[in-house]
Amino acid sequence: MIKVVGIGPGAREHMTYAAVEAIKSCDVVVGYKTYIDLIKEFIDEQEVIVNGMRGEVERCKEAVAQSLKGKTVCVISSGDAGVYGMAGLIYELVPEGHAVEVIPGVTASTAGAAILGAPLMHDFCHISLSDLMTPLETIYNRVKAAAASDFVICLYNPKSHGRPEYINEALSMIMSYQGTNLWVGLAKDVGREGERTIISKIDEVDYDLIDMTTVVIVGNSNTRNIGGKMITPRGYTL
Ligand SMILES: C[S@@+](CC[C@H](N)C(=O)[O-])C[C@H]1O[C@@H](n2cnc3c(N)ncnc32)[C@H](O)[C@@H]1O
Repeated sequence: MIKVVGIGPGAREHMTYAAVEAIKSCDVVVGYKTYIDLIKEFIDEQEVIVNGMRGEVERCKEAVAQSLKGKTVCVISSGDAGVYGMAGLIYELVPEGHAVEVIPGVTASTAGAAILGAPLMHDFCHISLSDLMTPLETIYNRVKAAAASDFVICLYNPKSHGRPEYINEALSMIMSYQGTNLWVGLAKDVGREGERTIISKIDEVDYDLIDMTTVVIVGNSNTRNIGGKMITPRGYTL
């Protein structure tokens, strides 16, 4: 049995009971080192298999191998396991009929939204700016389509050393459809040490504040700043 466990963005209180129970009761925990550190209080007798950030396929293959020996294995994913996480890869790797359970978690966008205010009250989408496995042209086409449709846009993987400019490009594309009268929220290190939020107009975003543990939420044309919180009205008549 493999359980693919979303542990939330970082804080203990953002984990579900199901996630904690699964980790406590399994035989083997498999994960990226940073995530194993976040859950170490729940690890006791379980065997732990850790590797680095780019080792997802090896990690998941090892998890499948361990579970084929009859062990219950938890594969740890940050946020929600099914949102840019490990759940899909595990399903692609297991033999047909092998037992898999996906334990959902709080994803970065909703956790970030909660501390920014309520920016996801209306239709929104998720776009990852990582082109490691998706062509950049496809990513930018999705950004343009989302902007043209006035979606609230949650940008994951906004910046890394290898691609520092994609976020600037993406926000420029959005401005070319929507203009500059849009609010943008940065939620950094949500649920982790140094958690921080910054709200600014799209043409005043401080790109230096954005890194790989930031989720960028671009409001739609109705999103407002109410007392320093980012709110997208749902449309109630007041
Ligand atoms: C590979 S994706 C994993 C997403 C994860 N499965 C989830 O549901 O949140 C990594 C991206 O998620 C966002 N992210 C993950 N954890 C975060 C956190 N604690 N604070 C802010 N953003 C976070 C960042 O945009 C980061 O680059």
